[in-house]
Amino acid sequence: LSLLVLHGPNLNLLGQREPGIYGSLTLEDINRLLMAEALRLEVKVATLQSNHEGVLLDAIHGSLGQHQGIVINAGAYTHTSVALRDAIAAVNLPTVEVHLSNIYRREDFRHHSYIAPAVVGQISGFGVQSYLLGLQALVHHLKKDQV
Ligand code: DQA
Repeated sequence: LSLLVLHGPNLNLLGQREPGIYGSLTLEDINRLLMAEALRLEVKVATLQSNHEGVLLDAIHGSLGQHQGIVINAGAYTHTSVALRDAIAAVNLPTVEVHLSNIYRREDFRHHSYIAPAVVGQISGFGVQSYLLGLQALVHHLKKDQV
């Protein structure tokens, strides 16, 4: 299995960005932990971060034929982007939505996710573990594991 992990806007600043909310790990740290988890799960993982909505859309389109599933932290685009939701629905690859913070215990504008109806499921609030759990959940989903 080959999977794509997408990081949306401002996540390149992890480590220095509001560490009380997002923790002290950098994006590089998170990607390193994802690669270790991928090795353990015996899957291939490619990662991409962009601050540009169109680049994220192109990456989702480009994953067709290249990857079997997607883990996405869409950052603030979660709460604004119909286009991202449409792209996920269009390629129809199993996708897991993840967030470092628990978006439901923060500001009201973070409570709505445009992409949620297009994904298999969502993991929110566990810091870097949200990504690792998201990757595990996606692999279990793709392998149709019963446990
Ligand atoms: C986030 C939550 C979003 O509301 C926010 O805009 C982000 C990060 C998270 O991982 O907790 O950029 O997706």
